[in-house]
Amino acid sequence: MLETAQLKIGDKTYDLPVIEGSEGEKAIDISKLRDQTGYVTLDIGYKNTGATQSAITFLDGELGILKYRGYPIEQLAAKSSFIEVAYLLIYGELPTEEQLKAFNFDLSHHTLVHEDMKKFFDGFPSKSHPMGQLSSLVCSLSAFYPESLKQNQTPEELNLSIIKVLAKMPTIVSWIYKKSLGHPYIYPQNKYDYVTNFLNMTFGQRTEVVDIDPVIVSAMNTLLILHADHEQNCSTSTVRIVGSSASNIYASVSAGISALWGPLHGGANQEVIEMLQKIQEDGGDTDKWIAKAKDKNDPFRLMGFGHRVYKNFDPRAKIIKKACDDILEKLGIDDEVLEIAKKLEEVALKDPYFIERKLYPNVDFYSGIIYRALGFPTDMFTVLFALGRLPGWIAQWKEMKEHKEPIGRPRQIYTGATNRDYTDIKNR
Ligand code: ACO
Repeated sequence: MLETAQLKIGDKTYDLPVIEGSEGEKAIDISKLRDQTGYVTLDIGYKNTGATQSAITFLDGELGILKYRGYPIEQLAAKSSFIEVAYLLIYGELPTEEQLKAFNFDLSHHTLVHEDMKKFFDGFPSKSHPMGQLSSLVCSLSAFYPESLKQNQTPEELNLSIIKVLAKMPTIVSWIYKKSLGHPYIYPQNKYDYVTNFLNMTFGQRTEVVDIDPVIVSAMNTLLILHADHEQNCSTSTVRIVGSSASNIYASVSAGISALWGPLHGGANQEVIEMLQKIQEDGGDTDKWIAKAKDKNDPFRLMGFGHRVYKNFDPRAKIIKKACDDILEKLGIDDEVLEIAKKLEEVALKDPYFIERKLYPNVDFYSGIIYRALGFPTDMFTVLFALGRLPGWIAQWKEMKEHKEPIGRPRQIYTGATNRDYTDIKNR
């Protein structure tokens, strides 16, 4: 029997149930608080608030643990493919050989986007940011698949919407890239696996198939796996909250893409490389930039450092750092920006400012260097993050629906003006 928490307000004491998750983390259940007491809680930025009970991803920020459906990220990154991980996240189990074959078959048969969607690609100015395009294009899928708007979809219909968004996203992402170059779009080909197909559409020339280096395919799989889910972060919470109003999957994922775009979230990977390039152009004096990051009167922050949840190390950053060294070595790339990154990390990890605040490199600190080595321009980095995060958003959206969660609707503490009488415009 779990303990209860007691809340004392004035001379009244209330018992609040304590619930415990499967990994031992505890929460005080305040779902009846307002009815019982008339009070709400205030937690700006949700730093202490659990918004759901989820069986998808577990992370322990203090110990640097990340698991998808119970499987450690280190094992998944080393042994599985991105599509296996996507299946695991969405359906809860690692697929059997047959299930994986069927999943790949379904995905490869829904990769085309409607030809009319090309007009949308054509309509965007060539310099518009890929994340804005991606969010709009994913939302516009709802126009082409109006059955996704149907309430009470059967499990089969719902699954088809899931397959469609997962299958079409690589096509959309690579076409955004082709459009930015002014190059012709490359169509998906059923014979390729998910990641190879994406790389072919992105780096292929005309309709000719390029030989995709297995080192690149493997690096891309690792990066996508590491980004595939991260429990209730800003973009995932957005997907769940939009979905909670019974919005369709395309609109919900599109909202997640918009949330991910910000530099404090997925946009950080682009910011990291831009910061490193700036430091390089400025002469490479890392001490100067560390001092700027510590200066409270200077808005500069060390991008790729710090995390809301990880306070010792980000397990994904550890894997990525190694992958980064391996890939640059295998591709024979000597990147000065990587040297600056390593120097910054070394200096920051010894500096009391960063130690006291538990600021360590996060997943984005090294991912940008790999994307750069693979040939992606910086403004595509966050789009690649979105491609990786997609199975997580889908799994969380599906779970939210299966749990029949109520519409997300936080409370507030109002601090504005109280009663005022309307004054005529001439008397203001
Ligand atoms: N550089 C310098 N100082 C920092 C940094 C940083 N990157 N991050 C946090 N701090 C300082 C803050 O100034 C604050 O100092 P103070 O206590 O003296 O006021 C303290 O550390 C705590 O910072 P908060 O912003 O309160 O921490 P929070 O948990 O709200 O923010 C966040 C986490 C947004 C990730 C923050 O560390 C940051 O802005 N990092 C840089 C951006 C980044 O890399 N984002 C990617 C995150 S990973 C992801 O989304 C995939």
